[in-house]
Amino acid sequence: MNSPQLIFDSLMPSNLSQSFPSTRLRRTRRTAWSRALVAETRLAPQDLIWAMVIRDGDGVREPVPSMPGVERLSVDQAVAAAREAKSLGVPALALFPYTSARDRSADAALAFDPDNLMCRAARAIKDAVPDIGLMADVALDPYTDHGHDGFLEAGEIVNDRTVEALVRQSLVEARAGFDIIAPSDMMDGRIGAIRRGLDGDGFDHVQIMSYAAKYASCFYGPYRDAIGSTGVLKGDKRTYQMDPANSDEALREVAMDIAEGADSVMVKPAGAYLDIIRRVKDEFRMPTFAFQVSGEYAMIMAAAQNGWIDGDKAVIESLTSIRRAGADGVITYFAPRAARLLNG
Ligand code: PBG
Repeated sequence: MNSPQLIFDSLMPSNLSQSFPSTRLRRTRRTAWSRALVAETRLAPQDLIWAMVIRDGDGVREPVPSMPGVERLSVDQAVAAAREAKSLGVPALALFPYTSARDRSADAALAFDPDNLMCRAARAIKDAVPDIGLMADVALDPYTDHGHDGFLEAGEIVNDRTVEALVRQSLVEARAGFDIIAPSDMMDGRIGAIRRGLDGDGFDHVQIMSYAAKYASCFYGPYRDAIGSTGVLKGDKRTYQMDPANSDEALREVAMDIAEGADSVMVKPAGAYLDIIRRVKDEFRMPTFAFQVSGEYAMIMAAAQNGWIDGDKAVIESLTSIRRAGADGVITYFAPRAARLLNG
């Protein structure tokens, strides 16, 4: 009489004792209006940050071969894209600079030049479209002649000297008008150092979005083509980016960046790391972002171009899944295409 099952049944609200045939889960799926009402995850243009590659020149739109549909945009074209983002309802852009081999150096000098491409683009976009959010990648890899995110000394990427340089790079970007400083370098201690640097220079209103759980991933390959690092990069980034085998370590990375002052945190890549997004969101309840990286973009485009998958559907499904995993927003090269699809 007092079997565990009976006790359980007596405590269970009657509407939760679901069984067939009185319960049929297909009932709410029958019609489009009903599916819309029970959808648990929403995807809107407002959830997207448009990842954009810029280059110098005027009137230039240069295709990136490994990323069909993505072009390196000169500053004037990036301004036009910012207007487009605004009209599509995409709230922010994340800019990444293409740098030719001859403009790179061991000391990454161009990173600290207030007239570099990133700064010129930020000023032009802020002039033309002041209320679009602008996010700056902070890392030395577009500027070093070895393609690493930090300084190389005797075969090692050195941490603390790199962090000082990242603070300088962040200040140059904040002064140019970037709203969000997004360190993607994975050096230890850089969030706290950048926060102190910004606060000490009158930029206490500038946000930091930390690439907190960033993995050493093959899915960055097309991006390295896009910014001119392919052929330049020597070795790999496994001494600073995370091992794809690790998950607990991602929580430690995120915890430290929050303690140091990150306003939001990012998991990168997105599609192969949905479990990490979910753990980070559940554990910290922070504004959590995920980066659908260049290789994820390239895979969808390649399969769609071969007629093997439906490209539009893959764009929406992949982004919806990243949101369902717990991301508040997604950095993606698909932002304009997805926004057009979502706006009907
Ligand atoms: C570098 C950086 C990378 C990306 C953004 N910032 C690549 C890397 O770490 O080598 C990847 C973006 C993408 O693949 O779309 N700091």
